[in-house]
Amino acid sequence: MPNPPPRLRPALAPDLPEIQAIYAHHVLHGTGSFEEEPPPLEEMARRFAAVTGRRGAWLVAEDETGVLGYAYFSQLRERSAYRFAAEDSVYIRPDAQGRGVGRALLCGLLDTATAGGWRQMVAVIGDAANFGSIRLHAALGFREIGRLEAVGRKFDRWLDCVYMQRALGAGAGELAGGCVCAPRAPA
Ligand SMILES: CC(C)(COP(=O)(O)OP(=O)(O)OC[C@H]1O[C@@H](n2cnc3c(N)ncnc32)[C@H](O)[C@@H]1OP(=O)(O)O)[C@@H](O)C(=O)NCCC(=O)NCCS
Repeated sequence: MPNPPPRLRPALAPDLPEIQAIYAHHVLHGTGSFEEEPPPLEEMARRFAAVTGRRGAWLVAEDETGVLGYAYFSQLRERSAYRFAAEDSVYIRPDAQGRGVGRALLCGLLDTATAGGWRQMVAVIGDAANFGSIRLHAALGFREIGRLEAVGRKFDRWLDCVYMQRALGAGAGELAGGCVCAPRAPA
């Protein structure tokens, strides 16, 4: 029988131990992250506060077994002109991979970002051989816009970084009045 669709909701502080465990697994065993040492819970809590405190969003997917995966976006780069461009990240619990959780989370994230007035979403995919992430993003309308070659070194391999991007809402069209994005910060 197919798995029922996971429930999505905004992440909360009590989810952080499960989030930390999921990320630690992928840091230790995969190339999706270029980190090599799993960040401790306190560091994950700091990242969570940074994302959710600044116009970003952090979602979890769950079922009766707990958190199946998480996804978040935040502004692509700090400088104010980037204020309509976001970058996403998505990580799925190992036993829940390949059953539609990543797709559900990324769809939820794109909807949230679009509703928030963001105009572009970028994925910086560690490792050109990360077919799962590349396929997931392509399935949701991202296209490859470039890659940095051999910029990472992990597990005794050189790793490329694949940049994928898709427009949200009106994309590069004109801004409508009442856009909820923050105004340009003073120089
Ligand atoms: C990459 C990842 C987020 C995908 O999430 P998932 O829940 O496993 O993927 P889904 O089951 O939702 O599949 C989504 C699409 O990707 C495809 N896909 C998933 N894993 C795949 C794989 N290993 N190889 C090829 N395609 C794959 C699916 O076939 C599906 O495509 P379709 O909709 O065209 O049929 C997840 O496997 C993961 O956490 N990977 C390790 C961490 C990571 O690399 N994160 C991304 C950092 S940029």
